[in-house]
Amino acid sequence: MDRPALPNDPGSFWMPFTANRAFHQDPRLITAADGMYYTSHDGRQIMDATAGLWCVNAGHNDPLIVEAVQKQISTLDYAPHFNFGTPQAFELASKLADLFPAGLNHVFFTNSGSESVDTALKIALHYHRMRGDAARTRLIGRERGYHGVGFGGISVGGIVKNRAQFGTLLNGVDHMRHTHDPARNAFSRGCPEHGAELADDLIRIAELHDPSTIAAVIVEPMAGSTGVLLPPVGYLQRLREICDRYGILLIFDEVITAYGRLGRASAAEYFGVKPDLITTAKGLTNGSVPMGAVIVDERIYTSAMENADAPIELFHGYTYSAHPLAVAAALASLESYRRNDLFARADALAPLWEQAVHSLKGLPHVADLRNLGLVGAVELQPRPGAPGARGTEAMKMAWAEGLMIRVTGDIIALSPPLIITEDEIQQLFGKLAGILRRLD
Ligand SMILES: Cc1ncc(COP(=O)(O)O)c(C=O)c1O
Repeated sequence: MDRPALPNDPGSFWMPFTANRAFHQDPRLITAADGMYYTSHDGRQIMDATAGLWCVNAGHNDPLIVEAVQKQISTLDYAPHFNFGTPQAFELASKLADLFPAGLNHVFFTNSGSESVDTALKIALHYHRMRGDAARTRLIGRERGYHGVGFGGISVGGIVKNRAQFGTLLNGVDHMRHTHDPARNAFSRGCPEHGAELADDLIRIAELHDPSTIAAVIVEPMAGSTGVLLPPVGYLQRLREICDRYGILLIFDEVITAYGRLGRASAAEYFGVKPDLITTAKGLTNGSVPMGAVIVDERIYTSAMENADAPIELFHGYTYSAHPLAVAAALASLESYRRNDLFARADALAPLWEQAVHSLKGLPHVADLRNLGLVGAVELQPRPGAPGARGTEAMKMAWAEGLMIRVTGDIIALSPPLIITEDEIQQLFGKLAGILRRLD
């Protein structure tokens, strides 16, 4: 493997969520992609075991999406959606309304998961205020939750390092306990059996603050970025019941779970629990053009239309809300998912995937294995005194051996494009097993 040349001043690009200085010493550069594979700077094929960052569900360079974006850029490059519209944006919103559970019928477009989260939090606050319930201003998240990097998202988020350097964040936020309980649930297949009662932590918080001050609760139905934490059986149902009891809106952050990751259009559908708002991004355009969408319940939208105190019902929006290229990419992505029946494909592959994930049991350093849909996690025992070092090393070894994996600390997360074949699943886990055997 050749070491790629970086420009004289590689630091001119301040890389996101990256150890920049270490990267400059040992760069990993990607020059092309197709289907399940990237091409590295030195011409190697690298299997994408993470669908990029949980976004390339239909595989790379899907011809349908490439063609749609090419056509769009030469027809209408940009148009504003403040006071003007494009027909395709309305078409996309209708298609999304059909895709998500009944009642979630209205769509607000953003450019990323972080923006979707901040948008959903703002819509929740707006909803209560317009109904005359203006005391409901508190927002509740969960420890270890990841909701992007906007100030709203890091406030309700529960990843300490993402919050620590950034001041006082939003006021009036509290956090429920997380659901990760390896002592009781290690090596669960699918959702863990123990822990539904952790949802009752919302009762504690509601009673502490007075439930009538709480606007919304936001959770990832399946937490990905913090290292794949699965909801205990019955947990999400219980959270829904408690929200209903107290008049609290429930937001599912589905930035990674929507568009097929669990073998359904949404985790809401998978778990049979209907939230009031769903935040999405990533798979919406198969990662090809930045876009997010917040899917909003009928009663929230209707209330805004009926109760707003100004002709503009919601003072919120982005220059690039419903950007024509993103809309074209999203319409083509939804079409590709449909034509190739990719959600059902993920569902059908899930049992084999589960077997493959759990085949790593007993290998060196493996502390836990988790799976759901086409998501897997390998939790490694940290090196004494050096948390995260073993995970980083595994990621580097995988890259050297033609595999892109994602690590959060010492947890390896796997979430391949939904086009992965049975053969490729075996190759992926064969390679990973070899790496684990050789890892210090
Ligand atoms: C659950 C969740 N919410 C929000 C985000 C933020 O999305 P973005 O990076 O597009 O802002 C992510 C990204 O991984 C996510 O997993």
